[in-house]
Amino acid sequence: MNFHTRKWVKPEDLNPNGTLFGGSLLRWIDEEAAIYAICQLDNQRVVTKFMSEINFVSSARQGDIIELGMTATHFGRTSITLRCEVRNKITRKSILTVEKMVFVNLGENGEPAPHGRTQIRYADEAFERYRTTLTPMQPAASVDEAARRIEADTMN
Ligand SMILES: CC(C)(COP(=O)(O)OP(=O)(O)OC[C@H]1O[C@@H](n2cnc3c(N)ncnc32)[C@H](O)[C@@H]1OP(=O)(O)O)[C@@H](O)C(=O)NCCC(=O)NCCS
Repeated sequence: MNFHTRKWVKPEDLNPNGTLFGGSLLRWIDEEAAIYAICQLDNQRVVTKFMSEINFVSSARQGDIIELGMTATHFGRTSITLRCEVRNKITRKSILTVEKMVFVNLGENGEPAPHGRTQIRYADEAFERYRTTLTPMQPAASVDEAARRIEADTMN
């Protein structure tokens, strides 16, 4: 399981008891899982379809650092199933697990579409794909030229 994302628990993330608010955590989990699914399926049109029960086993306090872990457990025809674990880096305790989160891959018409993936794509593989498809850049003659290139790149 990859623990890519860490969050620093701030005052706005707390419930009235002074511990991490479950709603904030669920928002972070949904976003992290969606990003994971997008990267795995190589498609930005994915939606959350299903989340299994969530078992909060411990909490976090202001100032704690928590980390969110995701892994794909099943690749369906149009869906991907993930497992999630959140842990507290300060207390070293598990905060919660979500055994099953299903995301559906959508086509341009907004309907479920086959994604063609069958196994986990690791960051190295994705990096290698980007590295080999990118055109090597020539050094810019000036800062202005570099700025123009970046602007043109971001507009494409
Ligand atoms: C996602 C949506 C397009 C799917 O439509 P649908 O009619 O259920 O589509 P399908 O029946 O073809 O199912 C699509 C996939 O989801 C899976 N699925 C459907 N219902 C499921 C459930 N309750 N639990 C787990 N998986 C489910 C199916 O098995 C299928 O996966 P597969 O192709 O890998 O076998 C539709 O339900 C929808 O738009 N839901 C709202 C999504 C949303 O707004 N999410 C919150 C914001 S991101």
